[in-house]
Amino acid sequence: MTLAQFIAKRSGLGKRHAKKLIESGEITLNGEIVTDGNLPLGTFDRLTARGEILQARTARYILLHKPIGILSATTDKTHRTVIDLIDESWATDLHLAGRLDRATSGLMILTNDSRFSKSLTSPENHVPKTYLVHTDQPIPENVIQQFRHGMSFEKENTRSAPAIVELLSETSCRLTIYEGLHHQIKRMFLRFGIRVTQLHRESIGPYLLGDLQPGEWRHIDLLLCYCQ
Ligand code: URA
Repeated sequence: MTLAQFIAKRSGLGKRHAKKLIESGEITLNGEIVTDGNLPLGTFDRLTARGEILQARTARYILLHKPIGILSATTDKTHRTVIDLIDESWATDLHLAGRLDRATSGLMILTNDSRFSKSLTSPENHVPKTYLVHTDQPIPENVIQQFRHGMSFEKENTRSAPAIVELLSETSCRLTIYEGLHHQIKRMFLRFGIRVTQLHRESIGPYLLGDLQPGEWRHIDLLLCYCQ
C-alpha cells in the first residue's frame, strides 16, 4: 500500500486530497518529512500527520522455551498456551513461527511480523531445526542411514531433506531436520516401530534456546532473516 492510499483510507479523504496533504510537507515517515504519496508504507513504519500518529506498530521477535504440557497455539478454551506465558499487553498480537506438539519442549519463535515467520516456515527455505530425541529402544544404524538419506512422506507428497543425526547414546540422538511436517520426528521413528519418549527443540536456524528456562522468553537480539 502507498502512503497516499493509506492516508486516503484512514482519513476518509479522497486520494487526491491525501496526495495534497502529503505534498504540503505535513506527513512524517519514520521521523522524516515525506512529500511523495507513491512511497510504499511498510507494516512497521511509523507515520504521522501534523504530529498525530497514524501508524506506529512495533515489530516483535520473541524466543520462548515451551514447557511440556503447554499448547503451541495462540488461544485455547481448556489448555494454557504459549501466549499465556507472555504477560504483556502486546502478547495477543503475536503468532507462531512453527509449532511443537504438546508433549514436546524447547524453542519456539513468536512474532507479529508475518514476513519473518513465513521466512522461517516456508519449506523452500530449508531452515534447519535441531532436536534432542529420546526413544523407547536402541536406534539402529539402518534408521540413522535412512534419516541421512531422506524419506518420503506420502500424506504431504514430499520428501525430507537429508537429516543430520548425531547418536548420543543407544536410545538418544541429536537430529536436525529441514521441514516442519506434522509430528514429523515421531512419524520418522514410528516407521521403524520406535517410539519417541522425549522430544526437545534446541534451535531453529540461527536461533538457539541457550539458557532460557522452561516458561521463559526473551526478545531476539539480532534479527537474522531468511526473508528474500
Ligand atoms: N516432530 C514431532 O514429532 N513433534 C514436534 O513437536 C516437532 C517435531
